Amino acid sequence: MSTPTGTFEWMSHSPEQTRQLGLRLGRLLRPGDTLCLQGDLGAGKTTFVQGLAQGWGAQTPVSSPTFVLVNEYARPDGAILYHLDTYRLTDALEAEILGLDDMLGAGALVIEWPEKVLPALPADRIWIVLQHLEAENQRALRFEGQGARAAALLDAFLLDLQGGA
Ligand SMILES: Nc1ncnc2c1ncn2[C@@H]1O[C@H](COP(=O)(O)OP(=O)(O)O)[C@@H](O)[C@H]1O
Ligand SMILES: [Mg+2]
Repeated sequence: MSTPTGTFEWMSHSPEQTRQLGLRLGRLLRPGDTLCLQGDLGAGKTTFVQGLAQGWGAQTPVSSPTFVLVNEYARPDGAILYHLDTYRLTDALEAEILGLDDMLGAGALVIEWPEKVLPALPADRIWIVLQHLEAENQRALRFEGQGARAAALLDAFLLDLQGGA
């Protein structure tokens, strides 16, 4: 087995592939985990969250939270995946008011536009940068574990991707 690093890149060639990546990561996500999705409009952040919520075991489908700041997706055991889109927030203070710590006590957190609220985020977090490449449907996803817990989760995720069909 290779040395764990918690950092790697993966290519997606369709929205479905991006959803599949999210789904596999969603299966590994536990309450207390924070996942940051950085990327321009149309990069595929919400598409990724659609799979993530499915892998988490959410019982309702994901909708884009651009007008609703926080969406909640509960799974049967009651744990909640909180989906934040901070596009319309102006600073980190507003994110602190949202009570991220309380959310992490009740479930996991996935956040679009995390760079806007950086000071409010937990230090241990999975950071994903999605980039639209030249080809219409091609996206590069760069996964980085910032913190020991996040790095360990991403190592497990990479093993799953490499071993899976
Ligand atoms: N490989 C891909 N991964 C994700 N989305 C893709 C891909 N190829 C094309 N798309 C399209 O790009 C758009 C991404 O939208 P969305 O997930 O809402 O982005 P964001 O939340 O980053 O603004 C969708 O219309 C989707 O169908
Ligand atoms: Mg979005």
